[in-house]
Amino acid sequence: MRGGNILEGEIEVSGSKNAALVAMPASLLFKGKIDFLNLPEIEDIKRMRELLSGIEAKGEIDLDIAKRFRASILTVGPALARFGKAVFPHPGGCVIGARPIDVFLEGWENMGAEIEAAGQTAHGTEVYNIKAPHGLRGCDHTLRVPSVTGTAGLIMTAVLARGTTVLRNAAMEPEIAYLEEFLNRNGAKITGAGTHTVIVEGREGELLIPKEPFIDPPDRIEAGSFAILGALAAKKLKIKNCNTHEISSLLSVLQNAGAYLETGTNYIVVGKSEHLNAVDVKTQVYPGFATDLQAPFMVLLTQAEGQGLIHETIFEGRLNHIEDLNRMGAKIALCDPHRAIVSGPSKLRGKVLESPDLRAGLAYVMAALVAEGESQIGNIYQIDRGYERIDTRLRSLGADIERI
Ligand code: EPU
Repeated sequence: MRGGNILEGEIEVSGSKNAALVAMPASLLFKGKIDFLNLPEIEDIKRMRELLSGIEAKGEIDLDIAKRFRASILTVGPALARFGKAVFPHPGGCVIGARPIDVFLEGWENMGAEIEAAGQTAHGTEVYNIKAPHGLRGCDHTLRVPSVTGTAGLIMTAVLARGTTVLRNAAMEPEIAYLEEFLNRNGAKITGAGTHTVIVEGREGELLIPKEPFIDPPDRIEAGSFAILGALAAKKLKIKNCNTHEISSLLSVLQNAGAYLETGTNYIVVGKSEHLNAVDVKTQVYPGFATDLQAPFMVLLTQAEGQGLIHETIFEGRLNHIEDLNRMGAKIALCDPHRAIVSGPSKLRGKVLESPDLRAGLAYVMAALVAEGESQIGNIYQIDRGYERIDTRLRSLGADIERI
């Protein structure tokens, strides 16, 4: 791809990767097939489909598929609730920190499950054996950290447990509220999703009966990434089909940085302004500034006047794009594993890069779009994991980008 692009036009936001990944494993809680509509055509969704069809067919989690992506852990709770046992690997995924699973394990133990180590896969991934010989029971459980997938996984497990489960310090991300709404429309009894306390009335041994499909909402991270892209490189970009309120933290930061913005409930118009100034950003749980938007935002800061501090509070390994951005000409100083200072504006130059994870991968595409000369980005499987046909969609806005 070649830089110096000025983008213009309209772009539609696809169905949400994370809302879908969180809801799809719930299909194991149903007696019969449930439909999932508006799913994006991305690699993570394909992996989840593959994994779930294997579980439906054999009652077992395919270790090779599961160990490759983090969201596979979401199938364990529903599989345990449905079959009374499961064998699963420590899930892999983006290289963005340690990503432990203690929140899940503690929750399941509190619901009466027994967990033991069951060796390793041929490639050295830990394998666990989980079973609930006396059934699962509701409990009052406080999550050590408000993990998004942890909260979703424990809600799905509790749906088929005996009695009431109270989950405290639950994640408040919209994906949890979408899951609650979907399950309740199909016979579950859950309240509080979207707040820090979620209550689930279990229905032991009784599967849900499919009534209504899951309609995947627009992807808030994609919408946010496009908003940053617009502020960085567009004359005028209209982002359609988004839930604007879900990225209000980002929009207020963009406004402070001086970007041109116009918003409606389901659209955003954004453009490059004459003057962008640096702002400080701290990633936080919802409704704070999303960690998934941190890498793209860092690229924006390279083009803003002054010094901006980026404080990544969620993941400790999520600033590993700094070195590559500096190779392109950015001036970013890493203060410690969680904080970096970006000094701008700086002239970026095209480079050959490898995408480290999906969000940083998209950030590299954005950097390459404003850089001088040609860039080549490798390992684009990472980008395809989360963004549907990004090359075609950006090309339609005037980007000089090609898949080779
Ligand atoms: N954590 C623990 N123990 C656990 C689980 C999490 O210590 O058992 C820690 C994590 O290490 C991290 C913090 O809790 O420091 C928050 O992690 P969380 O569990 O909330 O992340 P996640 O559920 O694994 C989801 C999204 C991520 C997104 C994070 C934070 C999905 C499938 N993934 O991950 O999305 O970054 O929430 O919002 O919903 C992405 O889309 O690029 C992505 C990585």
